[in-house]
Amino acid sequence: MVRQPTPEDKFSFGLWTVGWTGVDPFGSASRPALDPWEYAEKLAELGAWGVTFHDNDVFPFDADDAAKDKIVRRFKEATDRAGLVIEMVTTNTFTHPVFKDGGLTSNDRNVRRYGLRKVLRAVDLAAELGATTFVMWGGREGAEYDGSKDVFAAMERYKEGLDTIAGYIKSQDYDLRIGLEPKPNEPRGDIFLPTVGHALALIAELEHGDIVGLNPETGHEQMANLNYTHALGQALWSGKLFHIDLNGQRGLKYDQDLVFGHGDLISAFFTIDLVENGFPGYPDGPRYTGPRHFDYKPSRTEHMDGVWESARACMSTYLMLAEKARAFRADPRVQDAMAYAGVLDLAQPTLAPGETVEHLLATDDGFDLDAAADRDYGFVRLQQLALEHLIG
Ligand code: GCO
Ligand code: MN
Ligand code: MN
Repeated sequence: MVRQPTPEDKFSFGLWTVGWTGVDPFGSASRPALDPWEYAEKLAELGAWGVTFHDNDVFPFDADDAAKDKIVRRFKEATDRAGLVIEMVTTNTFTHPVFKDGGLTSNDRNVRRYGLRKVLRAVDLAAELGATTFVMWGGREGAEYDGSKDVFAAMERYKEGLDTIAGYIKSQDYDLRIGLEPKPNEPRGDIFLPTVGHALALIAELEHGDIVGLNPETGHEQMANLNYTHALGQALWSGKLFHIDLNGQRGLKYDQDLVFGHGDLISAFFTIDLVENGFPGYPDGPRYTGPRHFDYKPSRTEHMDGVWESARACMSTYLMLAEKARAFRADPRVQDAMAYAGVLDLAQPTLAPGETVEHLLATDDGFDLDAAADRDYGFVRLQQLALEHLIG
């Protein structure tokens, strides 16, 4: 049996995860909705450290300031009492029909101005509650029809919106960074910033890009047939891995938001290997130290017991994989296989210190083309050792 999670594990959950009542495009709710503080209290009891939410997970879209304050205060008191950290806050710019063509990139300028105000108010709320990450998932920023959107203008408006928000965070001296969450599609036919790579490219164009990074989600990269662990790796390399959304996805289909590990298990193993152990060639290299945040949906076939069971499953699978990933790295057979495979050699710069390109061109290092072409890498053995650790 795997040990109980504790706050030191830094597990956190979105209110909208355990709070999903099972409403999907084909069916109505299959479970009752609890109050936000009830979810928080139960998550703390299960061993979670943190909780996250969209503004409208806590108060209704049309709540006035007084109603909003009252409910937020009650929620904050409950999380304080439970010892839960509100580590991330985000804005819902997707449910209300006003956002049907997006918030920051709607063709309607009045909607964009309204959307920006809603996001800025959520930024204030995030800072007030002590959150350090502000996620932006632009689920409605996109299109179904290519003729309906000027992509150049959409990128201009995305940049304008992000710089306005990031500039505001700085002007208010908030200890807050923005985490962009890429997703290729759903609910829009095509969403802007479909992958981690697209988001990194936009961030590079921002004026206030220093406080804008990524919140990559397992299933979202996999919906684009991409490698989630590589996405995390490149975001880390860029100094942009601010937050993560862990869940499960099985192949190219709708966003399943399964329990973490209930999708591609060996990919999940290497994700946790990276998060827990870092890059093999860089023992002092960049590490992800943020929340272990789950963004999943307890299947609508489950009662409330199953909801809590699924939250427990996310954490316990994480802990099992972390233990296995540590054993994997410590195994002398794995270390041999890694050395044989040249995994650690990749960290060595290709040019010698101070070497010029002229020197490189003028020497051949006695390079043996045939021997190099004939080299065996043994990657399969290394992979099988991973599998042995995973399921052996
Ligand atoms: C999704 C997204 C959302 C976001 C959330 C926080 O595909 O539904 O993953 O769950 O993570 O809106 O920004
Ligand atoms: Mn998702
Ligand atoms: Mn997510």
